Amino acid sequence: MTSEIPGPVGTPPNGNLADIAAAGGLHTFQLELHAKFGPVARFELPGTRVVSVADPELLAGTSRINRRPHELFEFLSPLFEAGNLQTIGEAEHVPWRRLLLSALGNHRSHEAHFGQFTRLTAELADRWASYDGEIALQEDLSELSLQLICEFAIGTEPGSARQTSAAFRDVIAEQVGRQFGLDSGISPERAAAALAHVRETITRILNAGRPDAGLVTKLAETDWDPARIRDTALSVVMAGYHTSGVAVSWALHLLAQHPEIAGRLRDELDRVLGDRQAPTYDELRSLDYLERVVKEAMRRYPPGPYAAREVPEDLVLGDYLIPAGTTLLYPIWAIHLNPEYWPDPEKFDPDRFTTEGRPKFAFIPFGFGPRSCEGAALAMVEIKLILAVLMKRFDFTPVPGHEVVPVERFVLWAKDDIRMTVSPRPA
Ligand code: HEM
Repeated sequence: MTSEIPGPVGTPPNGNLADIAAAGGLHTFQLELHAKFGPVARFELPGTRVVSVADPELLAGTSRINRRPHELFEFLSPLFEAGNLQTIGEAEHVPWRRLLLSALGNHRSHEAHFGQFTRLTAELADRWASYDGEIALQEDLSELSLQLICEFAIGTEPGSARQTSAAFRDVIAEQVGRQFGLDSGISPERAAAALAHVRETITRILNAGRPDAGLVTKLAETDWDPARIRDTALSVVMAGYHTSGVAVSWALHLLAQHPEIAGRLRDELDRVLGDRQAPTYDELRSLDYLERVVKEAMRRYPPGPYAAREVPEDLVLGDYLIPAGTTLLYPIWAIHLNPEYWPDPEKFDPDRFTTEGRPKFAFIPFGFGPRSCEGAALAMVEIKLILAVLMKRFDFTPVPGHEVVPVERFVLWAKDDIRMTVSPRPA
């Protein structure tokens, strides 16, 4: 006997699209859905039945599924020339993933690029040190992560990081807005110009890239179509650009509201770094409190607020039968705020990560299973390094009256950025 999955009533032809728009996007809709209907809930998108699972024990039963639903990620299709890489089938995905993991997941290459990462981060910090005004953290930090990923994967600078970073942001915001009926404030013409800029930039940086750079070398060894090669570079640059910097910005937002936690983090940095402004690669690995702060910030504000799979055959999860063809939503934000596993879930408390015994999938900022994030280990290095350098060098003060409102542009951004003033810490 299986139970009926609870959920809101959807009306044809758009199902619950209007409810998603009213909630402000899928990032906030998932929180309302699970608060109201419990850890397993269903809803409808146009032509698609969705089941959202916020219970980490039940999620374990889905960890082998290697299929993503086309409809939910349709908004990314315009970015690709040779098929949507988010949703390619398993046969194409398996070698693609292997290539990405070999280019992105190798610790030795993280270490080899660490000096360049530190230099680029220090350049941003130097600019901030001589700037007397409000800083838009997400704008500046996503530019920095664009520089880092281009340096790491392609071995070149992205040209105007500001322009390219804004172009990526506009393309995705417009597409997500169009799919979920949200007002992105970006006209289709502006989005088309941004897409053209992104494509040209990727082609140019691939052509200018160093032949010995990790991803470029691996791509050159394949017999893939040139369009698939460009799409892969674009995917990596996009995934790398719009996540790590945003993760740092949310951590700084939380730290600015919790001076005692910021103080503990600075004590750790001062103890390990002394007078130096940046950790070495080995030191970074030893900064335990920093790691906990980063994890807790990604729990509170997961940069990727949801992931999804398509159920290949009928699946029983607990008391529920999920029919083949159903879109399974991984509501990462709701999972990270599930009070059963995260008591007082809104509270920012890095020490949660000192206790063990939580189910494996209670914390999944990088997703899980055969479609999980190939950039996870690299992202952790980048995020910890940037946060360490910035917290060592600056005090951050939120701009009075500036409200930080999470919005979804595939990634969890803040509506009008996260604005702060920074002041160098006394030596
Ligand atoms: C804070 C940093 C990051 C977060 C939170 C993040 C999160 C995610 C999530 C949630 C997914 C979907 C996983 C799933 O469906 O189970 C994903 C996929 C992906 N991420 Fe990341 N990511 C981050 C950084 C990066 C970086 C730096 C790169 C590349 C250098 C990257 C490359 C990718 C790629 C290529 C995919 C598609 C995976 C596939 O379809 O096989 N990510 N990421």
